[in-house]
Amino acid sequence: MWGGRFAEGPAAVMREINASIPFDKRLWRQDIAGSKAHVAMLGKQGIVAEADSVTIAEGLDRVAAEYEAHGVTDDLALEDIHMATESRLAELIGATAGRLHTARSRNDQVATDFRLWVRDSIDAVDAGLKALQQALVSRAEEHAESVMPGFTHLQAAQPVTLGHHLMAYYEMVRRDRSRFADARARMNECPLGAAALAGTGFPIDREATAQALAFDRPTANSLDSVSDRDFALDYLMSAAQASLHLSRLAEEIVLWASQPFGFVSLPDQWSTGSSIMPQKRNPDAAELVRGHSGRIVGCLTSLMITMKGLPLAYSKDMQDDKPPVFEAHDLLALSIAAMTGMIETLTFRTDRMRAAAEAGFSTATDLADRLVRVAGVPFREAHHITGAVVKTAEGKGCALSDLSLAELQAIDPRIDEGVQAALSVDASVAARASEGGTAPERVRQAVARAKEALGS
Ligand code: ARG
Repeated sequence: MWGGRFAEGPAAVMREINASIPFDKRLWRQDIAGSKAHVAMLGKQGIVAEADSVTIAEGLDRVAAEYEAHGVTDDLALEDIHMATESRLAELIGATAGRLHTARSRNDQVATDFRLWVRDSIDAVDAGLKALQQALVSRAEEHAESVMPGFTHLQAAQPVTLGHHLMAYYEMVRRDRSRFADARARMNECPLGAAALAGTGFPIDREATAQALAFDRPTANSLDSVSDRDFALDYLMSAAQASLHLSRLAEEIVLWASQPFGFVSLPDQWSTGSSIMPQKRNPDAAELVRGHSGRIVGCLTSLMITMKGLPLAYSKDMQDDKPPVFEAHDLLALSIAAMTGMIETLTFRTDRMRAAAEAGFSTATDLADRLVRVAGVPFREAHHITGAVVKTAEGKGCALSDLSLAELQAIDPRIDEGVQAALSVDASVAARASEGGTAPERVRQAVARAKEALGS
């Protein structure tokens, strides 16, 4: 395609290091779509004859049908998907194929293809994240009243409802979706027509190609158009952030499935066994979701470092933009699907959760709050008194609610008889009915809002 000024072909290793076809063949649909939009515009503008433009478009459809049926060749000699498609087009329609690349460079072509691919990926990932939200919301609704320990420092802190805990992840995923949506809105400008770097002397219509490819508008600066990979970085940043959330949820599943916690059990479908220890049920999928997030973050840093030192405009380093984006997409899509499957099917052992919430003195704050509310004790003093109560219970090896009123009043006479009821974990969560709080009524409200937002 570019051999005119060369007497010899490339060395085998040169060919290998230069070729992107083994991975960029994933862009074939976008490449065909971009070329069809381009050639239709060329025909309309009279840059190529209308009849040639039709011949080329039909030829591109034939190439696409071949790719669909047999996949794309791995022939390194064809260098990349753009060259492969053009060379197959030439085999099919002859010399007219050579008119397709008028007023275009592979630089604006690949920038366009890649944006189209990332845009499609965002749409697919968004659908996956929405399904995950639906799973979280439906389990949250089921467990609006189930009590579990809430943790800070992984120490039992205050009782919370399981529904509330699950809805925390719903919120994270909501932000993830909005981050992807922001990235999509920002990237939706069409670089086609920037040509190699400087624009073109042909009377092209960039509005027309932008519109044909469902972009909002053409990009503004030709140099920026071919050297910008912010859209891929925005995408990877969104993917990395989403994967961090998945990883935290995965970590909780791993922890909760362990024997000392015993808060969840995974069904057979989502567990693996050990080849040596017959008793094992391992949460491998959750561990791999946690592991994959590390790789996705690696994809983000990989492309950031590729881009950081590049002068304007295009440099071949930028060909390395695609593997990290493809890898992040694949890992994220799989992680979302696995997490959705686990959330839908895992069993919450609410008896164990409740027992753990009752065991950890987690209603101590409720005692302190009550001293403030009923006896007018300043909170700091109430905190101190409650500390002494916890110490007594710990010494006796019993729960706070097991202490008799006499024992409590021996610590401070202002502790009243209503305190025992207030120290139950159910009373504790019901009391936390402030906006965004853990009370079952608030969880039901959050669930209702989420269902409305999800249209379910
Ligand atoms: N395969 C190349 C890439 O992915 C296409 C652009 C080639 N441009 C060039 N000037 N050699 O970046």
